Amino acid sequence: MYFGVDYYPEHWVYPYAGSPSKPEERWEKDIGMMIAAGVNVVRMGEFVWGLYERWEGKYDFEWMRRAMDLFGRAGIKVVLGTPTAAPPLWLAKKHPEILPIDERGLRKHEGTRRAYCLNSDIYWEYSQKIVRALAEALGKHPQLIAWQIDNGLGGHSTEASFNPETERDWHAWLKAKYETVDRLNDLMGLRFWGQVVTRFEDIPMPKIAPTLHNPALLVDWMRFCSDTVIAYARMQVNLLRELTPDIPTTQNLRALTRNFDHFDMAEVIDFVSLDSNAAVRARSAELAAEIDIMRSLKKTNIRTPDGEEGFWVIEQKAGHVHWQEVNSLVRPGVIRLFTYQLISRGATGVLFFLWRQPRIGSEQFYGGVLTHDGRGENRAYLEIKQIGQELKQLAPALKGTKVQPQACILFSHENDWDQKFNLQPNRFFNLREHIQLFYNALHDRNIAIDFARPTEDLSKYKLVFAPSIHLLAGGEADLLKLYVQNGGTLVATCNTGLVDEHHIAPDGGFPHDLVDLFGMEVLEFDPLPPGEENHLTHKGQFTATHLHPARLWCDVIEPKGCQVLCTFAKDFYAGRPAVTMNEYGQGRAIYIGTISTQPFYCDLVVWLRQLVGLFPLLKVPDTVEVSLRQADGRKIYFLLNHQHTPVRISFYKPMHDFLTGKEVTGNMDLPPHGVLVLDEHSG
Ligand code: GAL
Repeated sequence: MYFGVDYYPEHWVYPYAGSPSKPEERWEKDIGMMIAAGVNVVRMGEFVWGLYERWEGKYDFEWMRRAMDLFGRAGIKVVLGTPTAAPPLWLAKKHPEILPIDERGLRKHEGTRRAYCLNSDIYWEYSQKIVRALAEALGKHPQLIAWQIDNGLGGHSTEASFNPETERDWHAWLKAKYETVDRLNDLMGLRFWGQVVTRFEDIPMPKIAPTLHNPALLVDWMRFCSDTVIAYARMQVNLLRELTPDIPTTQNLRALTRNFDHFDMAEVIDFVSLDSNAAVRARSAELAAEIDIMRSLKKTNIRTPDGEEGFWVIEQKAGHVHWQEVNSLVRPGVIRLFTYQLISRGATGVLFFLWRQPRIGSEQFYGGVLTHDGRGENRAYLEIKQIGQELKQLAPALKGTKVQPQACILFSHENDWDQKFNLQPNRFFNLREHIQLFYNALHDRNIAIDFARPTEDLSKYKLVFAPSIHLLAGGEADLLKLYVQNGGTLVATCNTGLVDEHHIAPDGGFPHDLVDLFGMEVLEFDPLPPGEENHLTHKGQFTATHLHPARLWCDVIEPKGCQVLCTFAKDFYAGRPAVTMNEYGQGRAIYIGTISTQPFYCDLVVWLRQLVGLFPLLKVPDTVEVSLRQADGRKIYFLLNHQHTPVRISFYKPMHDFLTGKEVTGNMDLPPHGVLVLDEHSG
């Protein structure tokens, strides 16, 4: 298993370390300390274009080769970033047209990373040149095991720019999509406010305007920007595949923060890597959801350096972050806990960001494996060293194991963009929060979960949740029907199928194309302001532990053959259905026409679990997170205590504890932030 750090050798030369006569001498010391911590891989070089090529065309890769050679002697492998995330200043001075222009028409200036427009031909050309030169110089180095493309593509809100070249590509993209101006006018709904065009070139980019742009245009713009980000990554991947075909490519992605289609990106690269968001105040179930989303991006054709079919965490936080308002220290044991959470949900490589707190630059006070003093006596280093030793023990058992969920939550980026960037019936509705209500209920009952796009093959899942797919393509609606027809159980909600892929509202009732699937029609919907509530009256199917509120959104439903599970308690739709179920083909389609609070989703999951025969991984107290990695009969359980207090666990049959090598049986107290890795088949 790969375990390592993100190393910036360029930060640790004279005058910040070393001496005038031995400017790079610190590197060897660092490597010694890395080995002591169990490190077997480092990522380097993602921001060093200006150091590789201080003057245009004069390359110097030798300092990086020296670093790689040193790692080679220590048996540590290397992932190299292509350095395009940070263009050198000379390039911006020579070609200011590569700098991105924002929606107000103002140019963003040079002097930081990400200062480039992804549609710039010049930037593409220069990127190709530096990537080629790098691959030719270091691509055959025996330590190299993977390339990271760029760094944080789309980060710092750079997914979109409004440069003349962007406009040119936007028009070409629209032409390829719509073919004729008439189709464009019709499908984009440009008759509205008379914004029809006579040529593709007249379609605006959605720059600042007196009021909102056409929602269909905005969704297309988001798709176009996403395709642009992905095309730029693909260009680098293709080049590297040609030059170094045996070296897999990856990219550091972040869950749900950047506006491009991460599933599309995952198709381009060989394996997914993520920057973990674990920070002190994050809820464990929210972190778990983000990890599961990232794991789910690429389910097939995974090519990692060691052949494991997982994902990597290429930036696991080694401590506190620096971007919160208050960047509190991560408490003892918590880095270890967060790291096991990633491994328990499928990570097969973990690298800590960053090796040492830099003495220079804008990330000076980010938590590091080493603190500024570099002595290696600090808390984080000792904790990470412990993890390194434990993982050496664990790695053989984890080999080949995977997380194999039977439940799945659907997520579509297009739908997310639509709800974020266009006006919505209720501005207080938040898709992520809605998804999280379902996720928490499953997570707290230790049911493993995948995420998927609605277009994926869902047949392997017993249970599929589709929270608020407001923008639902016709093809997606058909696939949902097929899934249920063939025996699946689908749970959909209010705010589904309000518009199709062209952002056209249906004339055949809501949810569009799915009225027969659910056996009901939504006639109207009533968005409620925060603080106002209706209530659900249960009709007996599943046990309600509480009086469940209906918040934010209430659908006025006309049943057309469905069974009614709950009704609304008040208002003019009192007594009308709020939750319904319909048999369709071999399966069932459940519809929840409102949003409630967490206890409702917990009751729902308890009922659904029995309905479809889904079993929790282990029976433990609710506050313990359980995950399972398995492979042909082997089952490895992870138990994580996210609380500040011990939790008592009772084992009815003996289990083998991988970290201590002992057998656990009867009662045991899992300490605060404690971790157990267990095997059912004790020796
Ligand atoms: C990552 C980025 C790193 C560092 C980190 C800080 O996304 O790749 O270079 O900036 O964020 O949170």
